[in-house]
Amino acid sequence: MPTSKITPTPEDGPRIFACSVIAGGAGKTQDVINLAVEAALRGHSVAVGDFDPQRTASHILGYQDPPPSQPTIFDVLQGNCQLEEAVVPARYRIGEGEEDSAFRPIPNLDLILGTPQMADAEVNLGLDPGGVLWLQNVLDTQVPEGRWDIMLFDCGPTLGILLLSIAMTGPEVIGCVADEFKYIIGLQDLEDTLEKGARKFRRFGFKTEVQHILATNIPLDAKGNVRRSGGAVADDAIKAIRGNPDWEGKLLPIIRRKQRFKDTIVTQRPLRYLDPRNEALEDIAAVADALGIQRLNSTRRR
Ligand SMILES: Nc1ncnc2c1ncn2[C@@H]1O[C@H](COP(=O)(O)OP(=O)(O)OP(=O)(O)O)[C@@H](O)[C@H]1O
Ligand SMILES: [Mg+2]
Repeated sequence: MPTSKITPTPEDGPRIFACSVIAGGAGKTQDVINLAVEAALRGHSVAVGDFDPQRTASHILGYQDPPPSQPTIFDVLQGNCQLEEAVVPARYRIGEGEEDSAFRPIPNLDLILGTPQMADAEVNLGLDPGGVLWLQNVLDTQVPEGRWDIMLFDCGPTLGILLLSIAMTGPEVIGCVADEFKYIIGLQDLEDTLEKGARKFRRFGFKTEVQHILATNIPLDAKGNVRRSGGAVADDAIKAIRGNPDWEGKLLPIIRRKQRFKDTIVTQRPLRYLDPRNEALEDIAAVADALGIQRLNSTRRR
């Protein structure tokens, strides 16, 4: 079971999760999207923040190439617009073309649009003496109380100032791992980065650490045990987490390997809408339960 922690009350602002690990393909984007959809279906008002220049989260949530006039998170970073201007309703594809009619909104779910320009975020924040405080200031001054219950951030492949700026908002950091040992190294690097941040920025209230570990794309058998015959490296990666006393208690329920995840990008449909009976959705629900994301009364839904 994950370690117990204080769940913020609504007056404390949204509960923030940041999915991170620099190693590519760890499942950050899928984890953010699937947890966001699950939380939204449970009646929470949810925002996904896409900080990754690859902007896969924005793509899956219905925005492949938004018009150049549409502000994104990079415009917020540059101070050219307010956060709200970069927010669009998350949606999934139901037809051909780029017209709004080709998409259906996902209830309760907003997207803070990503952009390839975020590749310059490290440089821009690095040149700003207050760069590490950027996102915290935005959330403090531009997000009205009660705007969202839950925010989930796809941090992208960064261990630099962008990640520290995200970490300054005090999120519950989810270290993402998949079916290879490189993610275990990535997890250690993420912990080291956050420890370094805590040493440097303690006076600013930085005390973020990896609070949860989420493993995905792992072959499981019918009983939910790791199926070694499906890949010894995946089994070894999970054993490495379970064998580490600091990590063992942080490991969330594992998300099983299912081929359909790969189709979510080309179809622009999160798994819940692409294949509503997919067994991996049960794993995602178990992760949401373990994180204490409750099922709210349906009257709270938008
Ligand atoms: N449980 C799963 N079963 C099968 N495939 C999965 C699973 N979870 C994620 N994937 C696939 O693994 C690949 C990597 O996942 P994802 O894009 O979420 O990782 P990422 O950490 O965001 O990667 P990147 O570093 O490219 O941003 C994707 O093709 C995704 O569809
Ligand atoms: Mg990604």
